[in-house]
Amino acid sequence: MRIGKGWYFSFIKSTDQFIFTNRFEKIIYFDFNRSTRFKLLFWTSNSMTQMKRFYTFCFALLFVFLINAQGTPTDFLTADFHKDRRAAVRDMMPSNTVAVLFANPIRNRANDVDYIYHQDPDFYYLTGYNEPNAVLLIFSEDQKDGNGKVYDEMLYVQERDVKAEQWNGKRLGVEGAKERLGFDMAFNGSEFLNTTIDFQTFDKVLFFDFKNDYRDTREKADLFDLIKTFKGKTNYPSDYNATKQQLYSMITSTDITNSANVAQTLGRYLNYYEDLQEDKFLTEFVEAKDDALRNEIKEKVTLELKANNLDSAIIAEILNTLRETKTEEEMVLLRKAIEISAVGQNEVMKAMHPNMSETEIQGVHEYVYKKYGAEYEGYPSIVGGGNNGCILHYIENNKTKVGNDLVLMDLGAEYHGYTADVTRTIPANGKFTLEQKQIYDIVYNAQEAGIKASIVGAPFQAPGKAASEIVTAGLMELGIITKPEEARTYFPHGTSHYLGLDVHDKGTYGAFKPNTVITVEPGIYIPEGSDCDKKWWGIAVRIEDDILITENGPVNLSDMAPRTTEAIEAMMTAPSPLDDFVLPTLD
Ligand code: GLY
Ligand code: MN
Ligand code: MN
Repeated sequence: MRIGKGWYFSFIKSTDQFIFTNRFEKIIYFDFNRSTRFKLLFWTSNSMTQMKRFYTFCFALLFVFLINAQGTPTDFLTADFHKDRRAAVRDMMPSNTVAVLFANPIRNRANDVDYIYHQDPDFYYLTGYNEPNAVLLIFSEDQKDGNGKVYDEMLYVQERDVKAEQWNGKRLGVEGAKERLGFDMAFNGSEFLNTTIDFQTFDKVLFFDFKNDYRDTREKADLFDLIKTFKGKTNYPSDYNATKQQLYSMITSTDITNSANVAQTLGRYLNYYEDLQEDKFLTEFVEAKDDALRNEIKEKVTLELKANNLDSAIIAEILNTLRETKTEEEMVLLRKAIEISAVGQNEVMKAMHPNMSETEIQGVHEYVYKKYGAEYEGYPSIVGGGNNGCILHYIENNKTKVGNDLVLMDLGAEYHGYTADVTRTIPANGKFTLEQKQIYDIVYNAQEAGIKASIVGAPFQAPGKAASEIVTAGLMELGIITKPEEARTYFPHGTSHYLGLDVHDKGTYGAFKPNTVITVEPGIYIPEGSDCDKKWWGIAVRIEDDILITENGPVNLSDMAPRTTEAIEAMMTAPSPLDDFVLPTLD
C-alpha cells in the first residue's frame, strides 16, 4: 500500500511474498510475536529525499507502537530456546535412534464443548507449539531426503483451515511453524499419514506410551490418525506395556552376578503392578532359584525385546533430566508466575472476612492472575475453610461462609506455561486463636528447616526429613500424638516436588542440583473426630513456598506473601479495593 508520496507499507505473510529488488533503498521489517500471523514491512524508494525517509521511519515506529499497544503478549519462550532444548535431547539420545513425540489430545467436557486445550508440557518445551494434532520427530543423526536435503528434526502440524479457524481460532500452520517456531522441516499432519520414514531402520524408536484418551474426529489428520500411523509403521504390539518393557530392559542389561538383586527389585514392581504378575518371564525371573535359570530367562527376554525396537524409558529419562534444571529464560516466566501468585495471596489477605465463601476467595486469587495476564491456574485451586482444609486436594470450594476458621489456600498461576504452587493458611477473621497459632508455628518452623535443608548436593528427601522431625516433636509436645510414628496421621504427604511447566514437574529426584525449583510444603491436618483433644479438631495448616536451589543456598521465590502469624495478621489489617466492591443483592 502506498501511504502518501514515496513511502509505503505492507502486511506480508512471509518474506517469500516480497520480492526484494534494488528499487527499495531501506526496508524496515517487523516480525511480531507468534500469535500474529503477519509481518509488517515498511520500505522507502530510492527516489525519496532524506527528510521523507526520516518521516517514514518515525511513522513506522509510531504505527508499530500503536499496533503493539493493543496487541498480544510477546514474552514467550523464544524459538531458539525450543531449538536448543531439542539439541539437548539429541545429544542425550543413543546413536541411530529417533524420538517421536505427540501433542496432547483434545479432551471433551460435554456434548460439543471441549476442555480448554492444554499442550503436553514436553511437547511445548521442545516446540513452542500450542495446538493439538501434531507430532515431532528428533533424529539422533542427520538424515537425508530424496532430494539430498539434510535434516535432523521434523514437525507435523494441523493444517490451516479457514472454516475451522473461523469457529475455533487461528492455526499456525506449516508456514507459521517454519517462521515462528523455526522448523526448517514443517509439514501438515496429513503428510505424516503417508510418511516414507522406515522406523525399522533405527536401533530404537523412543516414545511415550499412549494413554488411550484420544478420539477419532472428522479432522483429516487428528491425533488418532497420527498415532494409528505410528503404531502401524512401528509394528506396535497390541499388548505393549511400557512398564513391562522397562523391566525387560532391566533384566537384559543386568550383569548376571547381580541378577538376584534385580529379581528382588522386580518382585517389588510385581507387587505394585498386579497385571504384570501374569507375565510369564517376569514371574519366572523373580521366582528363579539360581543364576543359571535367571540367565536362561534373560536370553528369552532378550529375544522378546528384539521383536520390536520401541523404547518408552529412554525419552522419559532424558526429559526428566533436562526439565529438572531451569534455564534463565524459563526462570523469567516461572518467577513471574510465582510472584503473581504471591500477590494473589496478599490481596486475599487484605480482602478476607468471615462472610466470604470459598468460591469467592478463589475468584479473588484468580482475578489477580488474569489481571497480570496469566492464562490459567496450574492446577485446580484449593480453598478449604476449617475442616475442608484437611482434604489435601480439596477443590469443591463450596462452603458459603468461611466464618472464624482458618482458610487453607493452595493456588498457583500459570504464566506462559510455567506454574507456581503457593499455599497460605490464614484466619478468616484476621486473628489466629491460641490453638491455631500453636499448630501454625510448628508448620512454620518445619518449613523453615525444610527450606534450609534445600541445598545443592543434599538428597531430594532432605527437606522432608528436616520438616517431619519438627512436626513430630511439635505434635508430641502438644500431646496430639504419643508416639513418633503417629505423626504420619496428621502429616500424610511429601514435603517437596519440582516445579516448572508441570506443578509436579519432571525431574530425577536425586541429589539437589543448582537452578532447580522445588516446593517446601509441610502441613498438619487434624480432621473432626481425630483421636486427640477436641480443641484441635478442624485445624488444617499448610505453608508452601517455591524455592530456587542455587550454589549460594536456597532462595524463596514466593516470599512476597507473608508467612509468620504476625506478618499475616498485619497484612490482614490493610484495606482492600474489594471493600468497596459491593454488588446488588439477587433474589
Ligand atoms: N498444589 C498441589 C501441591 O501442593 O502439590
Ligand atoms: Mn505443591
Ligand atoms: Mn500446592
